[in-house]
Amino acid sequence: MQNYQDVLAEILIEADVLQKRVKELGEQISADYRGENLLLICILRGGVPFLVDLSRCISIPHMMDFMAVSSYGVGRRESTGSARVTLDLQTDIRGQNVLLVEDIVDSGHTIASVLQMLSTRQPKSLKVCALLDKPERREAHVPIDYIGFTIPNKFVFGYGLDLDEYHRNLPFVGVVDLNKYQPSE
Ligand code: IMP
Ligand code: MG
Repeated sequence: MQNYQDVLAEILIEADVLQKRVKELGEQISADYRGENLLLICILRGGVPFLVDLSRCISIPHMMDFMAVSSYGVGRRESTGSARVTLDLQTDIRGQNVLLVEDIVDSGHTIASVLQMLSTRQPKSLKVCALLDKPERREAHVPIDYIGFTIPNKFVFGYGLDLDEYHRNLPFVGVVDLNKYQPSE
C-alpha cells in the first residue's frame, strides 16, 4: 500500500474539525437519551475510531457492542445491495435504545439491511448516527438521526474509512487522488 501522502488529493475534514463535531454529537446524544438506557452498536470496521471518540463525549451511562456485515470486500468500492452479517452482537437488544454508529452512509444498503434485521429483535428504539453522509449516492432510503458531515460524491479515507483496508488510522478525512492510487492486485 502506498503512503497516504502519495494518494491524498486533499484533506476534506481536518482532525480538529472532526473532533469538534464529534463532541457536539456526543453532547446532543447525551441530552436526547438522558434518563434512558443506551446501547451504541459499532459497525466494524469503519465505525471504530468514531465510536471510541464519540463514546468519550457521551456523558450518560451507556454500553457498547460490535457487529460486522459484509457488503464491500477488499478491493471493492461499490455496495452490492443487501448486507450479510459476519459477526453478530453479544447483547440482547430487546427493550434497549439502540444507536447504530457508522462511518459513512453511501448507497444506504448496509444501514438499511442492519436496521431491518435489528428491528425484528424488538429494541425500544433504533436510530442511526453516521459520521459522514454522501446523499448523492443514495439508493436505499434510510433515516439518519445524527449526521456528522454531509460530503460530496468523492471516495474518502481516514478516520475509520479505508483504502483497501489501509489508512483507517488517519486522524482526518481525505479525498483519494484516483490518478495516483494504484490498487494492489
Ligand atoms: P453503503 O452500503 O453503500 O451505504 O456503504 C457503506 C459502507 O461502504 C461504509 O460503511 C464504508 O465501509 C464503505 N464506504 C462507502 N463510501 C466510502 C468511501 O468513500 N470511502 C471508504 N469507504 C466507503
Ligand atoms: Mg469499508
